[in-house]
Amino acid sequence: MFAKSGDQFNFFLPPYVVFGRGVRSTIPQYAQRLGMRRVLLVVDPFFIETDYFAQIQNGLQKSGIATTSWSGVEPDPTDVSVDAAANTYKKADCNSVICIGGGSGMDTGKSVAIMIASGAESIREHTPPTNRSVNGMVPTICVPTTSGTGAEVNPYAIVTNTLTGRKGLAYPGWELLSAQQVAIVDPELAASMPPKLTAITGVDALCQAMECYLTYTPNPISDDLAFRSIYLTAHNLREAIYSGQDITARTNMSLAATLATMAFPNAGLSYPHHLNEVLADTFHLPHGVAVGSVLVATLEMLLAYKTERLALLATKAFDVPANGYSQLSLAEAGIREVQRLLADINFPTLSQAIGQAKVDIDALLADWTAREPQFATPIGQERARRILKRSLEF
Ligand SMILES: [Fe+2]
Repeated sequence: MFAKSGDQFNFFLPPYVVFGRGVRSTIPQYAQRLGMRRVLLVVDPFFIETDYFAQIQNGLQKSGIATTSWSGVEPDPTDVSVDAAANTYKKADCNSVICIGGGSGMDTGKSVAIMIASGAESIREHTPPTNRSVNGMVPTICVPTTSGTGAEVNPYAIVTNTLTGRKGLAYPGWELLSAQQVAIVDPELAASMPPKLTAITGVDALCQAMECYLTYTPNPISDDLAFRSIYLTAHNLREAIYSGQDITARTNMSLAATLATMAFPNAGLSYPHHLNEVLADTFHLPHGVAVGSVLVATLEMLLAYKTERLALLATKAFDVPANGYSQLSLAEAGIREVQRLLADINFPTLSQAIGQAKVDIDALLADWTAREPQFATPIGQERARRILKRSLEF
C-alpha cells in the first residue's frame, strides 16, 4: 500500500461523486450545473414504478428540465436496446442523459451518451471498441439503484453486439474519458434490493476488490481503495442481506461497491472476471454468481504467489487474530473467512449454480481462448483449469 522508489503507474480518476443518504435530492442541482435542458431518463423497468423515480422526475421538472423516460433496459444490454434508447433520445431532441438503475441500466445510458457524442448510428460502431474521436461529451449523470457493479464510476459499458454475438466493452478506447460527469450514490435507493440481489451484487463488489488487490499490476491508490472496499464488505454484507433495513450496512455496501470500481479499472482484475463471460453465457448465470462461484478457488490458486497480501487481508479486513502464526497460515485462514462469508449468505457454489448442467472443462477453456486470447496463455489456461476443477469440488 506504499509506493516504492521507481514505481510508475497511471490512474483514472472517476467522475465527481456525490455520496450519502438522501443525495438523490441533489440530482436537479447537478443537472442544471451540467446544462441539462431536455434529459433522457434511462431507467430500469422495475424502478420506474417506484415513488423514488417519481420524486426524481418531479424534482427535475420543477427545476425547468424537460424529461423523457425510457425503461426498456435489458438485463444484459444488447445493441438493439441501446440503439432504441438512442432513437428515443434523438426523437425527443434531448441534450443529456441520466442513467438510473443497476449495471445494465447505467451501461445502457452511458452507451447512449457515447453514441450521441460520437455521432454513431448504432452502438455496434463501438463494439468492438474503436478510438473514434468525440466532439465534446453529452452531459450525463449516473444514479445507481444497486450496490455492486460500480458502473456509476467506471469508464466502461458492456453491450452485446447481436450481429457478432459477442459481449464486449463498448468504449475502453476512451479510458481517458468517462461518459458520465457525475455519479450520485444514494444508499437509500439500494436499500430496497431483496436479499438475493443484495448478495449477488455485494459478491460482485467483493470479487472486483479482491481481484484488484491481488492483481499483478497494483498501484498504491488502487490498493487503498480495494482494501477499504474488502473491509467494508467483510463487515457489512451479512447485515445488508439479513437486516435489509440496516441503513448503516446498506451505506457501507454502497461505499464498498463504489470504491471497488474506482480501483479496478486502474489495476485490473483476475480469473473470476476473466472467466465470467464464458461461465455466464454457458450456464446462464448472473454476472455476480459467475464471478463469485470461482472466487475461493482463485484465492487458493493465488495463495503461493500472493501470500503476504492474503495474510494482510486476513488480519486487517477479516479480523483473523495474528497470534504469531505464519504468513501462509494467516493467508489460508483469510481464504476460509471468504468461504465462510459466502456460506453465511447462502451464496451458491459453482455446482449449485449450474445445477444439472454438464461441465466440459476442455470446451469451456476452448471457448475462453477464442473470446479472451490475451488471458488464455498456456499458464493462464493451466490456472483456469485448476480453478474450474476446484470450484466444482465445493
Ligand atoms: Fe463485476
